[in-house]
Amino acid sequence: MTLLELLTDAQQCLRDKGIESARLDAELLLGHSLGLDRVALYCAPERPVSGDEEQAFFELIRRRAAGEPVAYLTGRRDFWTLTLAVGPGILIPRPETEVLVEHALAFLVSLDIARPRVLDIGTGSGAIALALAAEMPQLDIVALDASAQAVACARGNAENLGLADRVRVEQGRFPEVCIRDAGCFDLIVSNPPYISAADIETLASDIRDFEPREALDGGPDGLDVYRCWIPQCAPLLAANGCLMFEIGHDQAAAVTGLLAAAGCYRGIEVVRDYAGCDRVVLCRRV
Ligand SMILES: C[S@@+](CC[C@H](N)C(=O)[O-])C[C@H]1O[C@@H](n2cnc3c(N)ncnc32)[C@H](O)[C@@H]1O
Repeated sequence: MTLLELLTDAQQCLRDKGIESARLDAELLLGHSLGLDRVALYCAPERPVSGDEEQAFFELIRRRAAGEPVAYLTGRRDFWTLTLAVGPGILIPRPETEVLVEHALAFLVSLDIARPRVLDIGTGSGAIALALAAEMPQLDIVALDASAQAVACARGNAENLGLADRVRVEQGRFPEVCIRDAGCFDLIVSNPPYISAADIETLASDIRDFEPREALDGGPDGLDVYRCWIPQCAPLLAANGCLMFEIGHDQAAAVTGLLAAAGCYRGIEVVRDYAGCDRVVLCRRV
């Protein structure tokens, strides 16, 4: 078989299973399997594929057809300007979260501080913390996660990207964890678990059945974490420090209400993502 024939067969196989991104997934998995990027696949469409190569590729297609996310099969995902290692047990970083990174950078650039301090709660693969560190070498970042698997993944990514000296990855459950040198973060960011119990059941099976429940589950109405964390973040923020959360598309009113009710934040704003959905809330500590 040639590369093109293999791609066409794999695409059909994934499409038959109802996978909308069948062609893209087949390209990413064939590229991964052969150690080629997607452009290289199209530069040699007639290249013959050996029996072993075909077998290894179709094993990945079989797993994808059974619902396993592409990022877990390739072991990596692009986020911001970075390629991050990911795997089972780690939330796959989403493009929507880049909106939070954009606003976090805008806030940090506006500060007149030599070494701003940032706390990323629920860092997962380290996506947000590492994107910020890659853009601003002067940041001092603590990246926290309750999951040992996430902490190992984020530390590995920090090492691979040469950012380990600027991002301190710690394991601990917020707010119970005691963060060393707390009390003076200029920015706290988080993409917390915010899916409601009812919505979890309606998620695509590749998310619901493969991604870690503790990274998704926000309790009965999806707001458990905001209710708990909003009052707990205030004492960790410097005066005028900024708190920035990713939110679900229908949570803006509830989360801004919680921030207002806490009585220690001002300038509460909601930011939309590039699909036009409410995605980030931000505010400043009074
Ligand atoms: C939605 S994921 C976000 C991961 C990453 N920040 C991203 O945007 O790709 C939420 C993360 O929060 C972590 N987490 C959940 N509850 C936590 C808690 N109480 N304290 C610290 N981390 C927590 C989960 O383990 C998971 O890695």
